[in-house]
Amino acid sequence: MFETSAASDQPDYDLLNKQLASILEGERALMTNAAQFSALIFNSISDLNWAGFYFCSEAKTPTQEKPCDLLLGAFQGKVACVRIPFGRGVCGSAAQERKTFLVPDVHAFPGHIACDSASNSEIVIPVIKDGKLYGVLDIDSPRLARFNAEDQAGLESMLAAFVAATDFSSLPSV
Ligand code: SME
Repeated sequence: MFETSAASDQPDYDLLNKQLASILEGERALMTNAAQFSALIFNSISDLNWAGFYFCSEAKTPTQEKPCDLLLGAFQGKVACVRIPFGRGVCGSAAQERKTFLVPDVHAFPGHIACDSASNSEIVIPVIKDGKLYGVLDIDSPRLARFNAEDQAGLESMLAAFVAATDFSSLPSV
């Protein structure tokens, strides 16, 4: 069975990318790869209370501003909020603006959605393939300012590898 290293305060993202390549090799199924990706992140980075995905799902009443809802996908951590409106909270904002949100103190973020009251800092990276948005990767920590620029660059490179290796054709996109 695949062995990963102990959770680290400042992970070696080159090593994590090598482990990720080996985990994803030969498999393109979305839920399988998303579950494996969440488990690798959750167990390799110290002080996390949640790591996982929200994927685009048809909105109950789609509008131009809210083309889809973000529906809970594969994750590690406590039971979470199921459906996040596009544009709401850190996840919805990252989806709307298609950029990474690195939030050192979630309590200072207007509209933050507190799924787990233990969360104090958060990083959310949009999942984009061939110019289409399919959802977001959300990682939460009980430690204030848990994520720095090195984590952002490392996690963005890991997510890019996951996106390239995975088939998103079953999902709606924006
Ligand atoms: N805090 C997020 C919601 C998702 S949960 O933390 C898993 C937000 O504000 O978008």
